[in-house]
Amino acid sequence: MMSIRGKNSIYKVVKKLGSGGFAEVLLAMNRDGLVVIKLPKEGELANKLIREEAAILEELSKPIPHDNIVAFIEWIPDVSALVEEYIPGHTLDRAFSSRRATQNDAIRIALGILSALEKIHSLGVVHGDVKPDNIILPKPLHPVLIDLGIARAFGGRSMAGTPGWSAPEFMKGEVSPEADIYSVGVILLFLISGIDPANSIGPQDIPRNISDHLKHVLMRALSSNPWERFSSAKEMALSLMGAKIPVRNVPKIVIQGKTIPLSNKLTFGRVKRQGGTGKADVNLQEIGSRRALPPGPPIGWAEIVRVGTEYWISDKGVPGGLWVYEGSTWRRVLDYPLKHGQLISFGMRRRGGYLLPYVPARVYLR
Ligand SMILES: Nc1ncnc2c1ncn2[C@@H]1O[C@H](COP(=O)(O)OP(=O)(O)O)[C@@H](O)[C@H]1O
Ligand SMILES: [Mg+2]
Repeated sequence: MMSIRGKNSIYKVVKKLGSGGFAEVLLAMNRDGLVVIKLPKEGELANKLIREEAAILEELSKPIPHDNIVAFIEWIPDVSALVEEYIPGHTLDRAFSSRRATQNDAIRIALGILSALEKIHSLGVVHGDVKPDNIILPKPLHPVLIDLGIARAFGGRSMAGTPGWSAPEFMKGEVSPEADIYSVGVILLFLISGIDPANSIGPQDIPRNISDHLKHVLMRALSSNPWERFSSAKEMALSLMGAKIPVRNVPKIVIQGKTIPLSNKLTFGRVKRQGGTGKADVNLQEIGSRRALPPGPPIGWAEIVRVGTEYWISDKGVPGGLWVYEGSTWRRVLDYPLKHGQLISFGMRRRGGYLLPYVPARVYLR
């Protein structure tokens, strides 16, 4: 059998677990036990995608791996291989192929997935392929999210998704964290009712024999407009736990899962020691932990000001510019009246032909 040399050990391949679009997934073994190795198939693109997946997984494992996300072990540059923790157990689709979950069990599983997503979104990344096939249950109600193969930075362009499990806007190319929220809604529905979303789902598929509260959560998570869903994984988790979500909807901006209420005037930028003006109300460098703003002139900031019932955003020198997402493309703006539900980004950069936002956010005005 084939073996692969890592930094400090040799992995002996035990068997093939699967084969996707870009990678072979292998079960392997070293002196410490079993691991999973993702090896790219032929081609530069496959190499690049696995390298990106490894980089995201490595970051997610810091400072310690998350309980609900597969742990990174190492990246082997010579063969472009990603080595990750082996999660024993069935995938969610196998575990629930012929039985249904009780309402409480479905909620427990969804909360584990949402906890993983909270971490992923805080790094400015969207998983993009949250579905039962990419979730393993090492213990009965303990889900572990795997396969960050199509995970992307917010606001980039989605590669693909899985019809039925992926949000409608994600299938059209829009990448935002609310896409993962939608998928958790579909998973809840699948766990409770056994539904196969490939046959297209809607509010009529929400079972009648569940609590009104859960019905409400499902309706909201499955909204076709991303801004009508929960605005963060945390908010959906709180609602699922039955905690009271403040109903008073204050105008707010949600940046990487963090909610900031809009006031009459709010400045966004960097603090002085990071090369900023030192006068920002919201420190983007701290929130945008993954796609942090590049070193730039010390005048990088923007402001949102209330004008009557409207909120206007102004670029006061954001490195890379201030951007708004309109329909299907990003547009650079200087002064702009914000719209309810809009995606905006403080700064952009070009990579591989695509514009990637540094610190994307969604605004809620109602
Ligand atoms: N870390 C892991 N532990 C256990 N099984 C895994 C692990 N990663 C992948 N698998 C198994 O291999 C299958 C394919 O892996 P995945 O990472 O989803 O790649 P892809 O869907 O791109 O082929 C999964 O559905 C799962 O059954
Ligand atoms: Mg998969």
